[in-house]
Amino acid sequence: MLSNKVCKLHSTHAKVLLRLYSSFNPAEQLTIRDINPSTVEAKYAVRGKIPIIADGLNELIKHDPSSHGLPFQKIVNANIGNPQQLDQQPLTWYRQVLSILQYPELLNQKEIFPKDVRERAKILLHHIGSVGAYSQSQGAPYIRQSIAEFITKRDKGFISDANNIYLTSGASTAVSYLLQILSVDSNSGFLIPIPQYPLYTATIALNNAKPIGYYLDESNNWSTNTKELRELIIDNQQKGIKIKSLVVINPGNPTGAILSTQDMIELIDLAAEYGIVLIADEVYQENIFKGDFISFKRVLSELIEKNHDLYHKVQLASLHSTSKGVSGECGQRGGYMELVGFKSEVKDIVFKLASINLCSVVSGQALMELMINPPKEGDESFELYKKETDSIHYDLQTRAEALYNAFNQMEDINCDKPMGAMYIFPKLNFDSKIYHKLFSRAKNSNLQIDDIYCIELLEHTGICCVPGNGFGQKRDTYHLRTTFLPPGKEWIDRWTKFHKEFVKKYKDVNM
Ligand SMILES: Cc1ncc(COP(=O)(O)O)c(C=O)c1O
Repeated sequence: MLSNKVCKLHSTHAKVLLRLYSSFNPAEQLTIRDINPSTVEAKYAVRGKIPIIADGLNELIKHDPSSHGLPFQKIVNANIGNPQQLDQQPLTWYRQVLSILQYPELLNQKEIFPKDVRERAKILLHHIGSVGAYSQSQGAPYIRQSIAEFITKRDKGFISDANNIYLTSGASTAVSYLLQILSVDSNSGFLIPIPQYPLYTATIALNNAKPIGYYLDESNNWSTNTKELRELIIDNQQKGIKIKSLVVINPGNPTGAILSTQDMIELIDLAAEYGIVLIADEVYQENIFKGDFISFKRVLSELIEKNHDLYHKVQLASLHSTSKGVSGECGQRGGYMELVGFKSEVKDIVFKLASINLCSVVSGQALMELMINPPKEGDESFELYKKETDSIHYDLQTRAEALYNAFNQMEDINCDKPMGAMYIFPKLNFDSKIYHKLFSRAKNSNLQIDDIYCIELLEHTGICCVPGNGFGQKRDTYHLRTTFLPPGKEWIDRWTKFHKEFVKKYKDVNM
């Protein structure tokens, strides 16, 4: 019968197919040549080769605590501004309110939580609902309004508009949005400070755009040089580069320096003259040792007030974060950016990027609100909040001074006194004999001189810092960046001892 024949044919066909499928050759996996070259190109020294060696040593210590053979028992992670990894305690105020937001049943726990904690949690729960739900893409309106009020107060009354605030998961997301929208093609240029925080070079590489480094003046407290910047702009424009943005980090990472108001005005002038977007990375605005923080928004607002025609078109994006300051909530990141002077058609695209990401982490948004709107005098939590934040500020400043003094007493190291942020960026200033030996070692191992110093420091002391080449530095100069977050002074003494031995070793004629 025909149907029998058809059935037989089908089963033979199925068997052939089965044999065919089961005998295929498996395809190769992707290689690095098959993936987006921009992702291969991007570098990020803060978690680069030295921290990777440190992670390996850490594993060794953990695995074999009694016989690892290293001359130290612990890695000191001075490579990254990650306060709570280095024993900084979370602020009680944050964690108490957050606990209730995470588990609203706790609202009734009058014996555990002070009245103002419960009240704040209640307000936040009322306005944002569950922290487990997506918020509006731009961030919860109540929190944006609270941030706008904070900025208005911080900037001496110059009004901030909640519609211009975008909540982000840390400042990194804001940088990613901004660089994404501004990178039109490979001729889109970004002026970035040298030295810079490598998030910028990495994100520019990811967007296949062009980094244009402008040097900060080390001999003048890492100030900016407008004349050189102007020359760079003109020179690059002549080469067909369209300069899209000027990035400023203030207070500075890795320099720990703070720009003068005059420098800020001159940078705004450049932005006004050339239609360049100013990105003001102000994540360290709470980390200032002397005086008040002056924001780019405030300086721009004063200029607009004096001369509206000249300055009202300046496009400024200012960034802030919960990762730094005295909060150090890097693991549950909140952040915001304020956009001023942008046309709404451009802001709509930023909004779209935020929408594609749905929203930033909502507990991070709540943290941001707690950071910019802390307990006030008379509130039940105020005293403890003040005690905790004063103590963090005090510790940061004392350690910054201790490190600065130690570096300045070390032979062959120069260092500026940090004015803020969390970092010191000392310069290695070895004599020519030492350099000569270091050069030949560096050449043989495909490393740079500052890499060698940081590797030896790590291997001898367990202190992990980052070589200056990860941030960019002037040709033939060598630096290192360390945070002043690790507690105590013992690690600083260890560093001093190491440095003496390092210099002695490389000075030794027979080496
Ligand atoms: C200058 C600067 N900008 C941005 C960031 C990113 O911070 P966030 O954790 O908010 O993404 C850092 C982190 O160290 C930084 O130093």
